[in-house]
Amino acid sequence: MVEWFCTICYQEQKTEKEIPESCVKCGAGSASIIPLAEQSRDASGVNLVGPFETLEQVRDRARTKLKGICAAYPHCNGDSDRICQREAYGKPIGLGGAGSGASFAANVTSLARLRLQTRLVGDHFDPDPSFLFFDLKLSVPIMGSSTAGISRYNDAMGEVDFCRATIRGCREMGALAWRGDTWFYTAENTPALDALESEGGYGVPIFKPRSQDVLKGLIERAEKAGCPATGVDLDGCGSTIMERNGQPVFRKSIKDLKALVAFTSLPFIAKGIMTPEDAEACVEAGVRVIAVSNHGGRVLDHTPGVAEVLPAIVDRVGENALITADGGVRTGYDVIKMLALGADAVLIGRDVIRAAVGGGSLGVRLQMERLRNTLKRAMKLTGCPDLSAITSDILYDS
Ligand SMILES: Cc1cc2nc3c(=O)[nH]c(=O)nc-3n(C[C@H](O)[C@H](O)[C@H](O)COP(=O)(O)O)c2cc1C
Repeated sequence: MVEWFCTICYQEQKTEKEIPESCVKCGAGSASIIPLAEQSRDASGVNLVGPFETLEQVRDRARTKLKGICAAYPHCNGDSDRICQREAYGKPIGLGGAGSGASFAANVTSLARLRLQTRLVGDHFDPDPSFLFFDLKLSVPIMGSSTAGISRYNDAMGEVDFCRATIRGCREMGALAWRGDTWFYTAENTPALDALESEGGYGVPIFKPRSQDVLKGLIERAEKAGCPATGVDLDGCGSTIMERNGQPVFRKSIKDLKALVAFTSLPFIAKGIMTPEDAEACVEAGVRVIAVSNHGGRVLDHTPGVAEVLPAIVDRVGENALITADGGVRTGYDVIKMLALGADAVLIGRDVIRAAVGGGSLGVRLQMERLRNTLKRAMKLTGCPDLSAITSDILYDS
């Protein structure tokens, strides 16, 4: 007999030899089911942590499953000699950046340039990184970013399973996952919403800037599912693969945004903002969250890194909207840098994808735990007991 473990819901099951086609409890596909290793049991035979104990084990598995697409390098930085950047122009983008990869790389270098100051003399404290996202109290100001399309990379895992892994893994850590939208999602078939409906609405769907009517239908479903917020990645209007697959996307005017904001009772998010002018226009339309992002460098080649543009956007609209930042954030040290530049919360893209592919919900939980632990260490060493204490004072002038 072989014992199997569902990485999405942690159900165990046995078969003679062959891998189960699906999880008996949650229906997850075989790509998310793995043999249950003996060493993960304690002396009485109780499964303690599942087959993975470390994030490194999860990444090793992701590296194998994403062969030829992403090598889960310890330093994921968009360099042109990396597997993800080797694809020819016009081919699917995989996990890389658009064109030369300069925008992807700029995210990483703009964060790496920042240096943290230690503040070691003072009262002892246990850092409290808890964060309020509207009515939801989160244990960290870190969320899984909106991503989609993973089922098309080597059939790494089912699309709904991928969404559920990010939602569950984040929830188990007191964090929150945003979910994405892509060319094979349609108005009628949206894996992100299917997953959110089955997970009690615990997540934030971000839709591509589809037609107003299609968006309204999707937003209505998000509202019914009980999601705490929703929104649109405005930079998705550049997606040619959406167009090619009969899923047209559009630039949105202030009037369009106002109509969407008025249509829903949920706080509305505009993702993909890189200038104070766009941020101001969104706030004028009633948008509550400005998600500063260059889409992980995947939409327009040769943009600055997010850490470069963030302070000016915070200066312009920080008083009137919640600001998130994403792009190149790999550790809690990167998180604290984005917070010091004025972000209220930080989103994680590629590392959550790799964690979900390598270890399902459990992998995502381990990824978020690693981020929380390094953030707490950074808070302690920079003298910040809670998030309100994190300001640009902890950065050296660059
Ligand atoms: C494979 C992949 C798919 C993505 N899909 C979406 C999406 O559907 N919607 C969206 O708003 N952003 C999408 N993004 C962008 C992420 O939300 C995020 O902005 C970016 O990945 C952050 O950079 P990082 O990967 O360096 O952390 C995607 C990114 C990747 C790598």
